[in-house]
Amino acid sequence: MNNRRNWLKQIGLGTIGLGFCQFETFANPTKEFILPDFDDSPVLLRSNENPYGPSPLARAAMTKTVNTSNRYGWKLWPELITLIAKKNNVADNNITLGAGSTEILDLVLQYTASKKGNFIMAETTFDYWTAPYEKLRLKKIMVPLTKDKKHDLPAMLKAIDSETKMIYICNPNNPTGTICNREELVSFINEASKKAIVFVDEAYIDFTKEQSLSDLVIENKNIIITKTFSKMYGLAGARVGYAIAHSSTIDEINTLKSTPNMSVSVVSTAAAMASLNDEDFIQKVYVTNQEVKKYTIDQLIQLNLTCIPSYSNFVYFSLENYKKDYFKQLEDHNIQGTRIYEENGKWTRITIGTLKDMQRFIAALK
Ligand SMILES: Cc1ncc(COP(=O)(O)O)c(C=O)c1O
Repeated sequence: MNNRRNWLKQIGLGTIGLGFCQFETFANPTKEFILPDFDDSPVLLRSNENPYGPSPLARAAMTKTVNTSNRYGWKLWPELITLIAKKNNVADNNITLGAGSTEILDLVLQYTASKKGNFIMAETTFDYWTAPYEKLRLKKIMVPLTKDKKHDLPAMLKAIDSETKMIYICNPNNPTGTICNREELVSFINEASKKAIVFVDEAYIDFTKEQSLSDLVIENKNIIITKTFSKMYGLAGARVGYAIAHSSTIDEINTLKSTPNMSVSVVSTAAAMASLNDEDFIQKVYVTNQEVKKYTIDQLIQLNLTCIPSYSNFVYFSLENYKKDYFKQLEDHNIQGTRIYEENGKWTRITIGTLKDMQRFIAALK
């Protein structure tokens, strides 16, 4: 009981009387669920990290594995691959590991460059990883989002030309938090993959009840899916991600590395394996994120700010009606947000932290 009270207090629910009844249903919440927080520490709402830390099982596994860090992970890497493959209903040879999904994104860009030509992505989407594209002699084609900030799949299909080697779809999309309708996405993939690789980034899929597209890779060599342990699993600093693709496509991607899978440390590998077994933690993070996201959106709407419905752990909203200097307000309150993504409409993104984080964020805006 005491543990439960501590935990509610730490996530901010102990101090206010909101009707967050979902929290009551959590089985045995422990204070290990979240890391200690101090009132004057910066509120980190910039990088869509999980504010509750790695899962308790992952923390225990990491501590234990520190002692065997003198050894390479020859035994552990295949074990993690098997667990990931099972989770995604594919075979072990459909998976390759990376130090975060960023490593896989880098590899896919190199793989695309090896074919020469152009690649297509939405404007506005997650694009940091494409920074080296000019050095790699690739051309980038940007397709505007729809008015409701979704991928414009018909326009992306039209944008494909004879030089197109890859089309990137971030689903759910960062920074807008929107998601593609599965049927529309599958039919887009069926068409687009006849001409180029369709690369689907599912970094935030665990924050939805949507099914991954992993099943499509069994038959189709022209789909690459990436996933990460950085978001839902709370392992951003541990750096574990992976690609799911047809076995021959995985082989191709692996040719770009001297030793596939080796960039993930044994400590991080053990953490990822333990996290996959910590259903209780995943469920808590899912429900908590939903509740705190709802609180945040409700509050932003009360401030007369337009928000895009979000299928992720962040919210995209417009500062057009905001009268104060948003970035100064954040700075004055020691809160780290992110930039303006679209000048037209002054759209920015905020990560969903703990309830306490979001209360500080909303108070800072008022
Ligand atoms: C859409 C998307 N893909 C991939 C990544 C990379 O994450 P990581 O390298 O930590 O797996 C991020 C990180 O923010 C992201 O937002």
